[in-house]
Amino acid sequence: MNEQKLAEEKLNKYHQEHILELMSKLKDTQKQEIIDQILKIDFDKISELYENTKKVKEIDQNQITPINYIDKEKIDKKEKKELQKLGEQLIKNDQYAVVTMAGGQGTRLGFSGPKGTYKLDIGAKGKYIFEILADNLKKSKKLYNMLPYWYIMTSSENNKQTIDFFEKHNYFEYNKEKVKFFKQASIPMLTKEGKLVLENNKIKTASDGNGGVFLALNKEKMIEDMKSNNIKLAYLCGVDNIMVNAIDPIFIGLMLKQNMQIASKSVHKAYPEEKVGVFCKRNGKPSIVEYIELSENMRNERNKNGELVYGEANTLSHLLSVEAIEKVANQNLKYHLAIKNDLYKFEKFYFDAFPYLDDMLVMRVKREEEFAPIKNKEGVDSPKTAIEIYEKYYKVEK
Ligand code: UTP
Repeated sequence: MNEQKLAEEKLNKYHQEHILELMSKLKDTQKQEIIDQILKIDFDKISELYENTKKVKEIDQNQITPINYIDKEKIDKKEKKELQKLGEQLIKNDQYAVVTMAGGQGTRLGFSGPKGTYKLDIGAKGKYIFEILADNLKKSKKLYNMLPYWYIMTSSENNKQTIDFFEKHNYFEYNKEKVKFFKQASIPMLTKEGKLVLENNKIKTASDGNGGVFLALNKEKMIEDMKSNNIKLAYLCGVDNIMVNAIDPIFIGLMLKQNMQIASKSVHKAYPEEKVGVFCKRNGKPSIVEYIELSENMRNERNKNGELVYGEANTLSHLLSVEAIEKVANQNLKYHLAIKNDLYKFEKFYFDAFPYLDDMLVMRVKREEEFAPIKNKEGVDSPKTAIEIYEKYYKVEK
C-alpha cells in the first residue's frame, strides 16, 4: 500500500478526516510533508492522552514528607574550602558539563523567537539571554582555565533559529567545539475536541515538555558523547534564569563528597502563598510538590527555627551524574496536560524523573544571587524583575 493510502487509513481510523479535507486543497509537495508527519505519529498514544483528559484526576495517595537541605551560607569556612577544591578539580579535569533546556515555547513571555534570543535592556547595548548564559559559563575559563561542555536542548520549532542565532553571534566567543545542540521530541497538539490542527500547511506539534530532556539526551547520542568525553557531572537548568550559577565548585564538591546521584538548588519561599513547586519526599523518594497540592496546613507549617517546612523552592538547577541521566532516560515519564493558546499540549516534566533516583541533596542558595527567572511578559518573573535582580547583583550602571 502506498504512503498516501496508509496515511488516509490512519486518519480515518482515528477520526481525523478533517485533515484529509484540508490536504485536498494543497500542492503535492505540501501533501507529502503532511503524509510523512502522519506516518510518524503514534495515534494510539495520542488517543490515550486525549481520553485521559476527560477522566477525573485520581486523588493522590502519595505520602508527602519534608526533605532535608543544607544552607550554603551556613557551611563553615574550612569545609567550604575543602568542597571548593573537590569541585574545582572536576572542572579543571574537563569532566563537567552544563545542559540548558531551551526547547520551550515561552508562551507566557509572548515572544515569537526562542526565549534565549530575547534581548534584555541591560547596560548600554542590551544583552541577549543566551549571551548572559554564555558570559556566565565563560567565567570558568578565567577561574579554572577550562570551559564546560555546553549541551543545549532545542525543539523542532526552534532548532534552526537557535543554531543560526549562535552562528550569527559567533557563539558569544564560547568555544564552538564545546557547544552541542540536540533536539527534543515533538508531539501533536489537539483541539479540545481531540482534533489535530493544521497550521502553515503542517500538523501542529509542540515539544514534549522539559521532561523530554532525558530521552532526547539518549536518543540524540549526547549521553554517549558525555561518556566518550569522560564527563562525570552535568548541571541541568532552564534557559530563562539569567542569574543561574552553573559553575559552583562548592555545590559540585558537596555532591561528590556525599556521593549523590542528584543535587538540587533551592531558594527559600518568599511567603507561604508563593506559587512555586517545593522539594519534598513522596513515599520516601525525592520529588517536587506543587503549590496546589499542599494543604493549607502544610503550606504554613514551620519548624522550630520558624522556617517553612515545605519551603525549599525549585530553581530548576540540578546536578546529575551521567549514570543518573542514563538511568532516568530509560524511564517512561508520564505526560501532563497543559492548555496553551486554547490547544491541548502534552508535556513531560523533568522532575517526574526524581523518584527514580533514591536520594537527593538539596542546597539552599540566596534568591538575590542565583534566581531571576523570566516567565511572564509583565509582573512577577518578568524581564523587568529579572533585570532588577541582575543589575543590583552585578552593579550595572544604567
Ligand atoms: P516552562 O515550563 O517555563 O515553559 O519551562 P516555557 O515553554 O519556557 O514557557 P511557557 O510555559 O510556554 O510560557 C521551563 C524550562 O524548560 C524548558 C524551557 O525552555 C525552560 O527553560 N522547556 C520547556 C523545554 O526545554 N522543553 C519543553 O518542551 C518545555
